Amino acid sequence: MKSTQFSELCFLGLASLFGVTASFQPQIPSVASFTAASNDPPFVLSSSTQIIVDSAFQNTGSPVSLIGYANTFREDLVSLTGFTELPGVQAGSLQDAPSAAPMIFLTLGATGHNYYSGVATEEGYDFAIRSASYVIKGSGALGAWWGTRTLLQQVALTTGSAAGISFAAGSGSDTPGWEVRGFMLDAARHWFEPSFLADLCIYASFFKLQTFHLHASDNIWDQNFIAGPNWRDLYSAFRFRPSPNSPIAGLVPAAQQNETYTKDDFTAVQATCAAHGVTIIPEIDTPGHSLPITKWKGPELGLPDTPDLLNLSHPETIPTIKAIWDEVLPWFAAPEVSIGADEYDPALGDVYIGFVNELAGYISQKSGKAIRVWGTNEPGSGAVSIDKNVTVQHWDFPGDSIPVRLLEQGYRVINSEQQFLYLDGKTSDNGQFLVELDQGLMWAGAPDGGGWAPNIFTRHDAGNNTAPQNPLLRGALMAIWNDWGNNATTPLEIYYQLARSLAVFAEKTWAGSGVRDTQLSQDQFDGIYETLNAAAPGQNLNRAVVSPSNNTLFAYPSVPQPLKTSYDSVGPPYTLRFTVKPLSATQISVPLFDGSSMLVPFDGGVLFAGRDSKLHVQGLAFEDTSTRIRYPLRSTPTGKAYVLPADVETTVEIHATRTYTYALIGGERYWWTTEVDVWGEYMKAANMSFAAPARFIRAEGFAGELGGVELVLGA
Ligand SMILES: *[C@@H]1O[C@H](CO)[C@@H](O)[C@H](O)[C@H]1NC(C)=O
Ligand SMILES: *[C@@H]1O[C@H](CO)[C@@H](O)[C@H](O)[C@H]1NC(C)=O
Ligand SMILES: *[C@@H]1O[C@H](CO)[C@@H](O)[C@H](O)[C@H]1NC(C)=O
Ligand SMILES: *[C@@H]1O[C@H](CO)[C@@H](O)[C@H](O)[C@H]1NC(C)=O
Ligand SMILES: *[C@@H]1O[C@H](CO)[C@@H](O)[C@H](O)[C@H]1NC(C)=O
Ligand SMILES: *[C@@H]1O[C@H](CO)[C@@H](O)[C@H](O)[C@H]1NC(C)=O
Ligand SMILES: *[C@@H]1O[C@H](CO)[C@@H](O)[C@H](O)[C@H]1NC(C)=O
Repeated sequence: MKSTQFSELCFLGLASLFGVTASFQPQIPSVASFTAASNDPPFVLSSSTQIIVDSAFQNTGSPVSLIGYANTFREDLVSLTGFTELPGVQAGSLQDAPSAAPMIFLTLGATGHNYYSGVATEEGYDFAIRSASYVIKGSGALGAWWGTRTLLQQVALTTGSAAGISFAAGSGSDTPGWEVRGFMLDAARHWFEPSFLADLCIYASFFKLQTFHLHASDNIWDQNFIAGPNWRDLYSAFRFRPSPNSPIAGLVPAAQQNETYTKDDFTAVQATCAAHGVTIIPEIDTPGHSLPITKWKGPELGLPDTPDLLNLSHPETIPTIKAIWDEVLPWFAAPEVSIGADEYDPALGDVYIGFVNELAGYISQKSGKAIRVWGTNEPGSGAVSIDKNVTVQHWDFPGDSIPVRLLEQGYRVINSEQQFLYLDGKTSDNGQFLVELDQGLMWAGAPDGGGWAPNIFTRHDAGNNTAPQNPLLRGALMAIWNDWGNNATTPLEIYYQLARSLAVFAEKTWAGSGVRDTQLSQDQFDGIYETLNAAAPGQNLNRAVVSPSNNTLFAYPSVPQPLKTSYDSVGPPYTLRFTVKPLSATQISVPLFDGSSMLVPFDGGVLFAGRDSKLHVQGLAFEDTSTRIRYPLRSTPTGKAYVLPADVETTVEIHATRTYTYALIGGERYWWTTEVDVWGEYMKAANMSFAAPARFIRAEGFAGELGGVELVLGA
């Protein structure tokens, strides 16, 4: 008791000595309520702060326990504060915890936390900040986890001092408005490595989003191919790699295994996401978007001239779809999966409805999992209807069933309305989809001029929207599609599109719009977003590096030998300069182990390499290391590839931002671009952004001279 009082005085003294005035900062998403105890001294977080998990609840929570979340929280706190000596997490109780230093105490038992629907949730938490303790009490383990995100955001938004980081005394309470809050990634038309999926979960989790819908099978849509003889050449993918002796092994051709997740890969990604409170909802899309299946089983399983649509009346079709689910259902940790079921032949409504119900029953009986389908208005005879226990994910207004009617009929609905919530990788067909969520729509897109929220399906007509409290409205998922395939974007460009969008979406799906008076204003959001984006722990999708005082990361006047730097990939904006004189050989001699050597074809080698990109001599092409696609430098988007002249010195200066990369050579400007094929109807040029390949210089068999190498932050 005595020592507690002493430490309170001590920390009060230090805080005032360093002139720190603590106050609770607005954050993303907004916290439902906080009442300051302004006469009380603040809580000061320092490198000796203990994290204690209530021993009564340490193992409570599934799939992640309270202590599991606490350990991840500690790592995040260390990375945000730099307090590397922060004591390890301990189990204990508030009473017998060591009182020498202030502590963060995680416990459970908060009551009265309901979604707007009135349904109780384990995602809520209360918190109480006093000089000696910062107590987070979840209504479930996940709620306590969100409470730790709140604490971390306060750290990011508060300027610390030598004494530590001060938190205003007071208490608060917070609960999400809706049960489903997250995003869909089209990982079917574009390949993404497992680490990228995991990093997206970790990033989204900082903003309290908890659902990652993974669209994992599909094909590019191009009518010229689909209806023509070369339909097998159209890119399609099924991303879960079956075991070699599985009955569905043929679904992933050998040449495409390099673009699939093994069971172990996927299990690890799910575990990382779960450790951050995020559930992956996998989607295997049938009976439309099914080219991977007809490529495997033959066009007989498709409808005439539309091999992407399966013929559900063919005796092999439904057994094939069930066999696919048999293989992968045991992989999936989520209590729910999506069977897609969008954009099918409208003439086959009853067959389609029968299929959805049959698959729902099958998956439920096999695994106990519930299913979701995209909202598609299949005009059946009226004799049959989709089971009410199938959740409908509305996306196309008014193309699919009207969501308010579905709600009236008793369906549970998730809002993914494309007018608000659909993005497309890099570019869209004449602005059909957005590159980032439209901030204007998000903050003022409701019919009454208020902000968007999951209950808003249209901006034009209040009668087609519902109340935030509608018990059948589960929440909302925004979506990023990759209609143009692997060569439209790098994975990091997809992150650039998502970064700010996820944050605004998080505010709207956690707090809603017009429900709480603590909701953020757009100005408040804009004022803190960049700070929070930069602070988001556990991943480095920004590929940020510590900036040296002169902004120069490295400078090497001459690079006679291959060189490894202390950097890896450096996110834009940056400037990379070098002078290069490649050898004019068509073959080079490579040494062999026995001391001899052999001549091999020489493509110029790689000048720079890093985790995300490589810069080749040939065509001065940037390679995206995840898809292995090369993008040569061009003087015009559709012009010839640049040729780096051999045997003469050329000075190259690369300037990169998040929306383009260009090179200045001899006073001329050249761009790294791509050309995307829009629905097979026309080609559209677009800029590419690349992170700087900064790990290896003179990487991979470059022959010639290289010098004047300088990597500087800022474009
Ligand atoms: C679907 O397959 C069945 C059985 O092979 C066949 O009778 C039917 O004509 C096919 N449907 C269409 C629309 O081709
Ligand atoms: C949904 O309802 C149908 C029909 O009543 C039933 O067959 C199926 O098992 C149910 N599914 C779930 C996930 O409860
Ligand atoms: C809702 O949307 C449908 C489809 O666009 C439209 O016909 C109807 O007029 C809208 N309004 C209401 C109140 O349902
Ligand atoms: C900036 O700092 C780097 C790294 O310390 C150093 O190599 C470089 O010479 C400096 N550049 C200038 C222009 O001062
Ligand atoms: C996978 O292999 C195919 C066929 O060799 C190739 O076209 C593709 O670029 C490879 N993808 C990756 C990610 O390596
Ligand atoms: C990108 O891929 C599409 C096929 O999806 C192809 O038509 C196009 O030419 C490719 N673009 C480049 C720059 O290679
Ligand atoms: C690439 O970006 C530059 C600078 O914003 C712009 O002028 C140019 O039009 C863009 N190129 C393409 C193909 O979009």
